[in-house]
Amino acid sequence: MATNGELGRGINFGNALDALGGGPGLPLRERYFDEVAEAGFDTVRLPVRWSAHAASEPPYAIDPAFFRRVDAGVRAALDRGLRVVVDVHHYDGLCAAPDEQRPRFLALWRQIAARYAGHPGRLWFELLNEPRGQLTAQRWNAVLAEALAVVRAADPERTVIIGPAEMNSPAALPSLAVPDDRNVLATVHYYAPFEFTHQGAGWVDGAQRWLGRPWGGAADEAAVRDDLAQVAAWGRDHGRPVFIGEFGAFSAADMDSRARWTACVRAEAERLGMSWAYWEFGTDFGAYDVDRGEWREPLRRALLGGSDL
Ligand code: BGC
Repeated sequence: MATNGELGRGINFGNALDALGGGPGLPLRERYFDEVAEAGFDTVRLPVRWSAHAASEPPYAIDPAFFRRVDAGVRAALDRGLRVVVDVHHYDGLCAAPDEQRPRFLALWRQIAARYAGHPGRLWFELLNEPRGQLTAQRWNAVLAEALAVVRAADPERTVIIGPAEMNSPAALPSLAVPDDRNVLATVHYYAPFEFTHQGAGWVDGAQRWLGRPWGGAADEAAVRDDLAQVAAWGRDHGRPVFIGEFGAFSAADMDSRARWTACVRAEAERLGMSWAYWEFGTDFGAYDVDRGEWREPLRRALLGGSDL
């Protein structure tokens, strides 16, 4: 059984290989991997928007140039002794039309699993980021079992991460059907209270109204502890480690509150024996300021500082 300790402390290279829109997003520079390793992180999560770089007709071939970009990210992490989680990110079509897109989703995993089959065990797969919409829990449980079987045909032992429907929300964990496979573990995303973590986020309706909302104090901390205690209890009941694969607060929130919330979630996750990955490295939730070439110290401390937080 994979253990939580193996993933440890992580950070997402978000808005890079998963970038939406026409732009390239965050360039995955080698020195960013140096920064992450030197700061003391154990893991990077590499969100990848494969569906925007693969053919729409069978055999749904992934663009070779894009595959090489992913290879480079994987190699950069492994070369530095980091663990790396590769997911399928922003596959909106699958969430909108699961029956129609299912063969293409499985074909993506067939290609990804074959490509990385010989890689070290420090490379982990995550089947799908934030299933939602028409991909209800019932449908997702069926599709994830098929995708796992596709991965297992090429790679019998690699650790595979799965999260529940409803955008990997902790509340949906009870609906997740965990396959009988000892190298599967669970993930959730933690963005609560959403009105705090997503205040001012352009892609969330009504988020402008939440601007100025602070976070801190005994009641706020107790809410985080209660939420994460339920996640940890699910993990214990199901005998599965849980990875909080995303948590973070958007840059429009005030930095003191962001640091307090981040420190609280991280400390509580660690106390409960869960691994985690902050959302994200260098863009709109960024713990690292790419323009100045330095960590945002309050966030770095919240993530990696001592327990005197
Ligand atoms: C999405 C990002 C978003 C983040 C926080 C991620 O799963 O891919 O686009 O910024 O969640 O909402």
